[in-house]
Parts: sequence; C-alpha cells; structure tokens
Amino acid sequence: MATLKGKDILHGNQFTKKDIEAIMKVASQFEKELKGKGVVPLLKGKLLATLFYEPSTRTRLSFETAMQRLGGGVIGMGPVEGSSVAKGETLADTCRTVAQYADVIVLRHPKTGSAKEAADAVDIPVLNGGDGTGQHPTQALLDVYTIHKEMKTLKNLTIAMVGDLKNGRTVHALVEVLSLFNCNLYFVSPGVLRMPEEVTSALRQKGIKVEETEDLRKAALESDVIYMTRIQKERFADLAEYERVKGSYIIDAAFLKDLGKKITILHPLPRVNEIHPDVDDYPGAAYFRQMRNGVFIRMALLAMIFGKR
Ligand code: CP
Repeated sequence: MATLKGKDILHGNQFTKKDIEAIMKVASQFEKELKGKGVVPLLKGKLLATLFYEPSTRTRLSFETAMQRLGGGVIGMGPVEGSSVAKGETLADTCRTVAQYADVIVLRHPKTGSAKEAADAVDIPVLNGGDGTGQHPTQALLDVYTIHKEMKTLKNLTIAMVGDLKNGRTVHALVEVLSLFNCNLYFVSPGVLRMPEEVTSALRQKGIKVEETEDLRKAALESDVIYMTRIQKERFADLAEYERVKGSYIIDAAFLKDLGKKITILHPLPRVNEIHPDVDDYPGAAYFRQMRNGVFIRMALLAMIFGKR
C-alpha cells in the first residue's frame, strides 16, 4: 500500500482498498496490544494539537486518547472564544502558529474545505476531524472497521444510511470508503435532506447499487446495517424547516420487533431522538462499540503517519 507516513488525512476518497485493509489491520493489532497494557509507547516525544472550531466529544477525546495511549502528548487550543481566533486570526495563520509547537494537527471546522486549507498552510500532517458538511474521513474509517467487526465481512453488504444525508459529513465520507467494497446502499431521508445528487451519481458511475427512499422500514427489511444520523439543527438556515423534518426517523424497540429480523445499527453520535434508549441493549446496537473503535483507528492513523507501523 502507499505509505501514510507524513500524509494528511483529508477526504474519504484518498484511500485505496489496500490502504483501508492495512489501517484496519493495524487498528486491530492495537486493540489486542492495548488489552491489559494501557499504553503502546511508539510516539514518545511527539505532540498532537487539537484545533476544534465546532463542538465535539468523540473525535477530540478519542484523538487525545489515541495519542496518549501511543505515549505522545496533546495540546489543545480550547474554545475558539479563548484563542486569537476571536481577534480575527485566519485559519492558515493559526495553523502556522501551531505547527511551530506540535508535530500533527487534528482540525474540526465549520467550513467545507478548511482541512485542505490548513494542510496547504503547514508542513506537518493535518487530519480532518470534520469540515462543515464536507468530510469526516477518520469517522468513515472507524465506521468501516466497526461494520467489518460486527458483520465479519465487508463484501456484499447492504447498508441503509438514514437521516440528514444532505449535510452529513460522516455519510459523505463513508460512501467513499464503502464504494471500494461494492456495498449496496440505501439512502433514506426526507426529500429536503437527500444525499447530494453529485454523490449519488458518482457512486452509480462506479457501479454501486444505490436506492433512494423515504421509507425506513422498507430499506431496513432489505439491509444488513442501518447507519442512523442526526438531523442537524445547526445546519438549517430556516428553523421552521428543521421543525418539519426533525423526528422523521426514529428507531425504537417496537420498530425492531416489528422488523422481525436482526440488524446491525450504527450511529456516529451524538444522537438526539433518532435512536430510543430502549434499543441500547439490543444485540445489534453497535453504536457504543463503534465509538470505542475510534481510539484504535486513530491510534493506527497516528502511528502510520509517523512511520511507526
Ligand atoms: N462522531 C463524531 O464526530 O462525534 P463528535 O461530534 O462528538 O466528535
């Protein structure tokens, strides 16, 4: 595979199938190695900088966990209001500053394309932790790692992506990765939140079977995996439109009982109301395992970027 050493991680389309298999293999090794140890000290003396211009729990904390479990250190800008961003500093200048202190940056930013902008400004690797409605490639890798662990294969699966497919950077990145494994895709959303047409047509051009529907039950009956997403209030210019579509899709124990078959359920989280807590004990509810997997995938990426795996 092409080495990840020194590379930026910006977009779900930058990986080959071999890259993804190699990243998953390294993640799986870390998962085993960490048991009972707590630290695999490959990155002693290296520093990760976290620049989060939008809220995050999982991405920021799992990157921090990954770096510390690799023996490295972490510095964080903290809330933007407490940084010189509040004085008008540009993203490029903030990244140039941080590149004097740290060895790698993970960035979350509300603007699509911001991770590329940051990567162009500095010589150290930049990992895209979510750029607006664009991409979230490290999430896509942990998602595919989770699907593989839960289903024991990535071949011939049918996956239903549900919710805010227009604005969801997690699904935009995940379809890029899944397209390498010939998965069949169902896109389930209200009409106003459909997957962008250019994404759907690019997938079809690659020979991926894509079906769009507003009917969650129909898609679920024909799928192996449901990938739920939150309808993202913060992305709506018109809050009345959000009120019209919020709660469009809710999975609860009654829905699953009526479905009459076992299905695997993922969600990048946070959830609002789209998965009822009465699903949490369902054997196919993989979303808490999924977020744990984020640590192993992010350890793999950091170790590979520094040429240690
Ligand atoms: N999945 C994800 O990106 O979660 P956070 O927004 O909490 O980082």
